[in-house]
Amino acid sequence: MTHRIALTFEDGATRIITCNPGETVLDAAYRQQVNLPMDCSDGVCGTCKCRCEQGSYDLGDDYIDDALSADEAGEGLVLTCQMVPASDCIVAVPVPSQACKLAPATHEATVIAAELVSESTILLRLALDQPEALAFLPGQYVNLSVPGTGESRSYSFSSKPGAAEARFLIRNVPGGRMSRWLVETAQPGDRLSMVGPQGSFFLREVTRPVLLLAGGTGLAPILSMLEVLADQGCSAPVHLIYGVTQDRDLVETDRLEALAARLPGFVWSACVSNPDAGHPHKGYVTDHLDTVPFDLGQCDLYLCGPPPMVEAVRATLRDRGLAPVHFHYEKFAPTEMVAA
Ligand SMILES: Cc1cc2nc3c(=O)[nH]c(=O)nc-3n(C[C@H](O)[C@H](O)[C@H](O)COP(=O)(O)OP(=O)(O)OC[C@H]3O[C@@H](n4cnc5c(N)ncnc54)[C@H](O)[C@@H]3O)c2cc1C
Ligand code: FES
Repeated sequence: MTHRIALTFEDGATRIITCNPGETVLDAAYRQQVNLPMDCSDGVCGTCKCRCEQGSYDLGDDYIDDALSADEAGEGLVLTCQMVPASDCIVAVPVPSQACKLAPATHEATVIAAELVSESTILLRLALDQPEALAFLPGQYVNLSVPGTGESRSYSFSSKPGAAEARFLIRNVPGGRMSRWLVETAQPGDRLSMVGPQGSFFLREVTRPVLLLAGGTGLAPILSMLEVLADQGCSAPVHLIYGVTQDRDLVETDRLEALAARLPGFVWSACVSNPDAGHPHKGYVTDHLDTVPFDLGQCDLYLCGPPPMVEAVRATLRDRGLAPVHFHYEKFAPTEMVAA
């Protein structure tokens, strides 16, 4: 059986390759023009050492201890010249993608609609020219071109991988270049290009309760993760706290309800930080952590939103001595901040 191997690189780039039965990850990568680090290809030098973050595999038995010790193997390190996957896997490659001669992948798409779903949020729907060529992990983002400017902006998929239609939830930033283009100019049929997928904020295998914390359009990657969990038939407890500033910022609540109907362990609540809001739950997501029905020290936490919100959650967890087993977060930083 063929397996899908997600190779994640130090610079955040990802490439998903297929691995044939009995084929090593190194050979599969070369076949698909990804030159992973290697030297001997015989399990002797250790140059091809990577970390398998998810999935099952045969380590091979033709390598020497100097290349991969038993302790390293126990920690999930692998030699890609020896590793034969037995399932889909995620393999972290400890070098930047360019060192593997991996050019950033560009994908083309056509605007289906750029719709203001509230005063503050745009739902962008794109028809992908080649959906099968855009393999991403739920939670990842792409850099979308801003037409006519030579600039691009990062946006996380709110749709699930493999869909012919890619969806994005985009904050309508007053005066923002992409925001303005989407609200004032975009028309169905317009063409957009995107580079990616990118990012290490993606859903890992669920082996314990999962806490999801979303701030504003930080809901986008969380929706993509929830869609995948629903397709997988996940029954683990999954708890989402979705925080926004104003009542009008609350979007996609119907979709969350539909996901709750498909995911037996999924519970979500929202809160609005403006004290004058009409919503019954006021405050920040950090004010509602006590409503989570499981031990925060025994869960995996995914956190996404604007930088101040992400920092506030991190500070609260630190102050309260709460350390989730795995903690993944993404900051929706403005482009100028990312560049700086
Ligand atoms: C990894 C990553 C993923 C992201 N994913 C998403 C996503 O899924 N959805 C989404 O809405 N955004 C996302 N962002 C943010 C997004 O890339 C843009 O920064 C944002 O949409 C603003 O773009 P713009 O062209 O409209 O405004 P710009 O032209 O970049 O900014 C115009 C002005 O507004 C300020 N500004 C920009 N953003 C904000 C803000 N959020 N709050 C207040 N002021 C701001 C800028 O500093 C600048 O002064 C992501 C960012 C990163 C780094
Ligand atoms: S390339 Fe030398 S051990 Fe794999």
